[in-house]
Amino acid sequence: MNFLGSHLLSVDQLSRDDLAHLSEVARKLQPVARREKVTRVLEGAVLASLFLEASTRTRLSFGAAFSRLGGSVLETVGLTFSSMAKGESIADTARVISGYADILAVRHPEAGSVAQFAQTSLVPVINAGDGAAEHPTQALLDIFTIEEEFAQRSRPVDGAHVLFVGDLKYGRTVHSLMKLLTLYRNMTFTLLAPEMLSMPDGVVGLAESRGHRVYPITRLPDDTMEVDVIYTTRIQRERLQGEQIEGYSRDYHVNRFFVDHMGGDATVIMHPLPRDATPGSNDLSVELDSDPRLAIFRQTDRGIPVRMALFSLILGVADSIESTFRDVRWHRLAANT
Ligand code: NCD
Repeated sequence: MNFLGSHLLSVDQLSRDDLAHLSEVARKLQPVARREKVTRVLEGAVLASLFLEASTRTRLSFGAAFSRLGGSVLETVGLTFSSMAKGESIADTARVISGYADILAVRHPEAGSVAQFAQTSLVPVINAGDGAAEHPTQALLDIFTIEEEFAQRSRPVDGAHVLFVGDLKYGRTVHSLMKLLTLYRNMTFTLLAPEMLSMPDGVVGLAESRGHRVYPITRLPDDTMEVDVIYTTRIQRERLQGEQIEGYSRDYHVNRFFVDHMGGDATVIMHPLPRDATPGSNDLSVELDSDPRLAIFRQTDRGIPVRMALFSLILGVADSIESTFRDVRWHRLAANT
């Protein structure tokens, strides 16, 4: 896609070359993300961030990425605090806000709603999650993470075996990521979820039509396996429509036993976060927190260079950005990944 001035609404817009281009810009921006360099390349630009559904990391990381490029951030959170609670349409809201800002990042509980924002917005709109449908920027940071982790292991992503586990029906991050992974060659996908929370047919069909192997399973297999990536996601309780999750058993609980059974020494363990810490949730276990294969916080860190790269490409400053770098002047306590 031509990023300049474009909306990013779905990963369907992206090609393999686009992923490589984005990752290349993200790598160049790592010194800013790691607080070794500063830039003011977006000085004067304004991001309007509308999060009409719960969020911590996506909202803050969009804001941090834009701020670190020198721009300013306007925010509104929660439907109840916006004029949409007074009955304002998406069309009017988008037109109004786009008069205040140079780019919008929007999260909304309904699938397809962010595309409606784009219809009347005067400026580019980035989908920060639309219901159970998609979460393109999470998928981009997940791809960047997989690329970086595999590079550290001197392995190509092509030909990898990826295990998705958890709520694959309502988990929008797994929809977007699996679609992007179909752009690689010769992939194998194992999809571990209870029947009622299985991956949508459209995503499975896309992978199959591109020649990849897809194995949906509902229980942990008896035999051990050695997958390259374990990507787990919590049950999206806020989206359940009467599905019974009592049977959501230890088969989906990614703990040490699970990783020993399904993974190997080089397996990358990922999760978009948040992980559900409520008792009995069977989400990714804290047992794995000191396991070096657990990439979850490297993953969140990488949201910053990836979102900076996206802003830079859409707003047309990616090529000139390195020439604007200056050294930081404050005392840095810790560098991120
Ligand atoms: C995800 C989301 O909002 O879809 N979180 C995130 O943005 N990192 C996953 C989730 O909420 O489970």
